[in-house]
Amino acid sequence: MYDFTTVIDRTGQHAFAIDGPGRIPGVFPESPDEGFDVIPLWVADMSFATCPSITKALKKRVEHPLFGYFITPQEFYERVVYWQTTRHQVKGLTKQAIGYENGVVAGVITAAQVLCTPGETLLIHSPHYNGFENGLCNAGFRLERSPLVRDDCGIMRMDFEDMERRIVAKNIHALVFCNPHNPCGRVWDAEELARMMALCQKHDVYVISDEIWSDLIAPGYRHLPLQSVSADARGRVIALYALGKTFNLSGMLASYHIIYNERLKHLMERQGKLNYYNEMHVLSLPAFLGAYTPEGAQWVNELMQVISGNMELAISRLSRYPGVRCTKPQATYMLFVDFSAWCADHGMTVSELAAKGCRVGVTWQDGRIYHDPDCIRMNLALPRALLEKALERIDRYVLCAG
Ligand SMILES: Cc1ncc(COP(=O)(O)O)c(C=O)c1O
Repeated sequence: MYDFTTVIDRTGQHAFAIDGPGRIPGVFPESPDEGFDVIPLWVADMSFATCPSITKALKKRVEHPLFGYFITPQEFYERVVYWQTTRHQVKGLTKQAIGYENGVVAGVITAAQVLCTPGETLLIHSPHYNGFENGLCNAGFRLERSPLVRDDCGIMRMDFEDMERRIVAKNIHALVFCNPHNPCGRVWDAEELARMMALCQKHDVYVISDEIWSDLIAPGYRHLPLQSVSADARGRVIALYALGKTFNLSGMLASYHIIYNERLKHLMERQGKLNYYNEMHVLSLPAFLGAYTPEGAQWVNELMQVISGNMELAISRLSRYPGVRCTKPQATYMLFVDFSAWCADHGMTVSELAAKGCRVGVTWQDGRIYHDPDCIRMNLALPRALLEKALERIDRYVLCAG
């Protein structure tokens, strides 16, 4: 049993989650009023210590006092193959298809540069992770948003007709896909993925599949790597993975791509080298070696049980308020709560509600940054005691009198 209950003090560690609020108005949440501490329910890192096998591997490496450039060893590729094979039942993955990336967003931008010309428009589902917009638009690309649509059970679905219409109207040849989806928490099923890839094949659209959340799947669901959908998908998809979300190692930039299409693989490596120093970070290697192990797998399994419990607690407490709608996510540790009806009843906007929470340290995130003005995103990867503290503050100060 790993420890997911200790509340760890991050003071003095320059942690974005704790020290970030108030730093960039309109982008980061506001810092709380005096007397309230930040309960980090926002940026996608966890309030849990990473898996002990990773810390152990890092400590061992740090004992050796030289940290110069080095060659990515065979062991890295073997660990990735081990993880993808055992965790996601990937078949036929070899070293040739794998390449290190200094961060997933960086990899998404590199992939866009490989697949598109400057200024070209890429299709994306909306809502979407804000980092895509920042990264891709800053790099000179445009985004065409195809809205996801909530079904009768509150589950977000792709609108294939809408996607096709936009692909044709804007002459689109690249799609940025989030599998599983942040912030909506969807694990796309086989039928949806097959239909999407058939559409991409029909219109010759290549796909950048960000699978950074693929290890954080709720009990009862299974992640399907997009490349596994068909032979065509295997050659049409650039997939990206990382340790960051899975093991709470986002500061480590330990990421990688999988590309089976030899030409795309060559172009991706070439473009990565043109853009930045895209070699492995010296501490990423021990992190990978400690993470992609049976111990790492067990840690993630236990983590997802804890997150599932946190989701149930938060949903049961928030659903007591008429007009607050939340569906248990199938993946990620993000709960995307629709407060639009509650806010309409109480004469306030969802942004005002988000700000009200932040003032008392309920540091959640206004859905507008994901292009969903009805929702607030809550990061529930935190010890139960912290979550209870947040829910009490929500009851007492936020949803109390509107
Ligand atoms: C879908 C998605 N992709 C990428 C990232 C960031 O990845 P990185 O820090 O490796 O660039 C995040 C972080 O929240 C994310 O949610």
